[in-house]
Amino acid sequence: MRKTVLWVLAILLTGTSLRADEGMWLPSLIAQRIGDMQAKGFRLSAEDIYSVNQASLKDAVVLFGSGCTGELVSRDGLLFTNHHCGYSYIQRHSSVEHDYLKDGFWAQSRAEELPNPGLTVSFLDHMDDVTAVILQGYDASMSEAERDSVVRSNSAKLIEANTDPSQGLKASVESLFYGNQYFLFVFRVFRDVRLVGAPPSSIGKFGGDTDNWMWPRHTGDFSVFRVYAGADNAPADYSPENRPYQPRMFFKIDRRGVKEGDFTFVYGCPGSTQEYVMSEQVRYVGEVSDPRKIDLRTRRLEIQKKYMSQDPAVRIQYASKNATLANAWKKWQGEARGIARMKTVASKQAYEARFREWAKGTRYEGVVDRLGAIYARRNPSYLAYEYYNETVRSIEIVQFAAGILSRLKSGSPTTSLIEAFYKDYYEPIDREVFASMVAAFNEQLPATFQPVWLLEKLGRYSSVEAWRDSFYAETVFTDRSKVEALTKADIGRLLEDPAIEMSEAFLAWHREQIQPVIRETNEALRPANRLYMQGQMAFEKDKAFYPDANLTLRVAYGHVAGYEPVDAVYYRPVSTLKGIIEKDNPDIFDYNIPQTLRDLYAEGGLEDQPVCFLATNHTTGGNSGSPVLNADGHLIGINFDRVWEGTMSDIAYDPAICRNISLDVRYLLFVIDKIGHAGYLFDEMVFVD
Ligand code: ARG
Ligand code: GLU
Repeated sequence: MRKTVLWVLAILLTGTSLRADEGMWLPSLIAQRIGDMQAKGFRLSAEDIYSVNQASLKDAVVLFGSGCTGELVSRDGLLFTNHHCGYSYIQRHSSVEHDYLKDGFWAQSRAEELPNPGLTVSFLDHMDDVTAVILQGYDASMSEAERDSVVRSNSAKLIEANTDPSQGLKASVESLFYGNQYFLFVFRVFRDVRLVGAPPSSIGKFGGDTDNWMWPRHTGDFSVFRVYAGADNAPADYSPENRPYQPRMFFKIDRRGVKEGDFTFVYGCPGSTQEYVMSEQVRYVGEVSDPRKIDLRTRRLEIQKKYMSQDPAVRIQYASKNATLANAWKKWQGEARGIARMKTVASKQAYEARFREWAKGTRYEGVVDRLGAIYARRNPSYLAYEYYNETVRSIEIVQFAAGILSRLKSGSPTTSLIEAFYKDYYEPIDREVFASMVAAFNEQLPATFQPVWLLEKLGRYSSVEAWRDSFYAETVFTDRSKVEALTKADIGRLLEDPAIEMSEAFLAWHREQIQPVIRETNEALRPANRLYMQGQMAFEKDKAFYPDANLTLRVAYGHVAGYEPVDAVYYRPVSTLKGIIEKDNPDIFDYNIPQTLRDLYAEGGLEDQPVCFLATNHTTGGNSGSPVLNADGHLIGINFDRVWEGTMSDIAYDPAICRNISLDVRYLLFVIDKIGHAGYLFDEMVFVD
């Protein structure tokens, strides 16, 4: 009897301790979570994760570019990130003759590592709660505008004091919890980052958009870079004289593998979440915005796909554009369904009812209804803005024309823009996108949101296609040599070019009819959300709140776990090479693996080679490339995705379904060695097993 009670207790306890894996925590405050982390298996201390006094794990994590994460894995600045994070750089080094996207690339020596102008990696030097400094001079009697100006001027001073270009030090002040808290982040930004290697896309993007956001997954989604520094180990512009950066810390690699239940944590830079918004905003995302944008992108994707499958050159040109487009498209599908399945709108409404009751007579009274009224005013205009982005601004020639005009106006050179544009431009795609997107904008948005200019244009032609044909026949921007010859003196004449005319007409419409409502409601939302956030924290005093993601460094922890996507189906958490061979099909682009991999497999013994694994870490976009660590802080994987059924975790996390997907580091090592024949890189890595 007593034994049974103990058993039940033990199950209950592990049950709860395993369940609450939601959260993206601030590294400098991780001491508040360390007890829970250790109870779940973590064997290091808070100081090991983040310290300003000694080297800690944070010193091995970087913001890669401006939207991914990377990690250092050797004392010579070697860095891992995802293939899809390195993708645009790999593409830039590729041509039909040297197709590194298709064939992969491995520098055979450090001299062959390829520089990537514009690419930076940022190490967090330190972070501090600066709320008191930022709000110095503010008092509650001030208007929102006055508060803003206090915050802005205090931030500017703090940023200035913490910036030192000679050391590559860059600072930013970020608002957390809707401006209830402010943190200073000081980064060391390195700007000589070279490509060391990448697997062929048939490995690095295996499964492509067919498998994207899905399990079972078999993508070898990694690429390898190296951070270079000047003679003093400080950030420097690219120079052949630069030396590999010697980091304060790098991750050691554990090849012993993972199994269900193992503790894992992800250290990286999640981009954006909205966990604390009111029901009305969740409804807008799940029932309006996501479904509409999904439809618009379906049309564009189909147009691109048609031409990409006809011509390998077009496939290369549009590879990166297509992947970017498809990615959010699929994520939104999971998000909208997840919000519906979890009944998040209803559960937020129920929460808001309890909150209203509690808030009576306090300063929080009325805040939820105020928010509701602001969203009701805002969302129709916001939808028009989203349409503008997804339709008119997706017409490449129009965007290009606007870019050229603004450079001519400011007197900056146009050569690099011209080069980049024509390299990846295929007019037949753009023409179809033009007709399809203009029609969608015109048919789907209410009359009040139609620019008069557009209605007049459409009235003058028999069809959108007829307008389109005259548009592309007239515009100068389809003719590279004419665009190259443009100078400042041509600006007056250019204003009559149809592409410029369209871009200017929509800009004016946006500026006059859309932007004012969005700006005004943004300003109203700020104090209301700040108060509501404060209210939620007061209402649930015992709950541990984590700030919404904002691309600042965070720790998410959980454990390796499968899930049940639908009734009666259980997904095990580890995929293997056997699954790649099952999917392999030379006739399907996404599943056509390199012959070398087929041959290796045929030799036998590789059925159980692990490829990817699932865990419960709460991650989002930006966490791509993040190190996935075990209980000892050793590298076991690289985060690259979530399962699509769980993508509503940006708004509501469901422990039963939300899973991040990681590349097993052992597959990365296998590919470097057996496919890339770049096993020499292992000499600089440190293995703990
Ligand atoms: N879904 C992942 C992320 O959000 C991977 C995207 C790149 N892969 C792709 N097939 N488009 O970034
Ligand atoms: N692939 C995503 C990224 O680029 C990570 C997936 C997600 O969790 O949204 O950051």
